[in-house]
Amino acid sequence: MARSPLAGRLLLLSGESGSGKTHCAKAVREWIRAAGGSVKFIRRVNHVESLSCVFWHWPALLDTLKNGGWDVVEDMMETPCLIIDELGGGHDPSAVGTDKLCQILSRRERRWTLVTTNIVQSAWEEKFDRRVASRFFRNSTHVDLSDVPDFSLHAA
Ligand SMILES: Nc1ncnc2c1ncn2[C@@H]1O[C@H](COP(=O)(O)OP(=O)(O)OP(=O)(O)O)[C@@H](O)[C@H]1O
Ligand SMILES: [Mg+2]
Repeated sequence: MARSPLAGRLLLLSGESGSGKTHCAKAVREWIRAAGGSVKFIRRVNHVESLSCVFWHWPALLDTLKNGGWDVVEDMMETPCLIIDELGGGHDPSAVGTDKLCQILSRRERRWTLVTTNIVQSAWEEKFDRRVASRFFRNSTHVDLSDVPDFSLHAA
């Protein structure tokens, strides 16, 4: 990300509760906060930007969208790094989240995006619908954490 902030890909972490997905997602956010200011790039003429990220907990994003907070979507499309934690959590009966996710992933196909989910790969198409599942395989890397033990239960 530091070497090529504008030539990114999708990183998808999937695994059970307690496997450290949120821990990793927050660590990436912290790294960007600490180091992103020194990573400069130019996307538009006469406009120098530095590396920053937008972090959303998916259930909270669904609530925001349900309450009409559509302005957050543009930020999600434009940010150098988008982090979505716990995708598939929360309730989305009207599929408003799925529709927006589809648009966001389309726009971000060559950008840095980190998604975490508890949903196993075999259930993606059923849970997220085919358009989203298809985009998960475009310019992406998947990390399957399903064999990772629960850190919380382990520590208890
Ligand atoms: N590599 C790690 N080193 C130390 N502690 C960790 C590590 N990974 C996770 N933990 C701790 O284990 C607990 C569970 O991790 P985390 O919340 O990231 O799991 P998760 O995969 O996001 O679970 P869920 O699917 O329920 O959201 C947290 O308290 C976290 O701080
Ligand atoms: Mg989590």
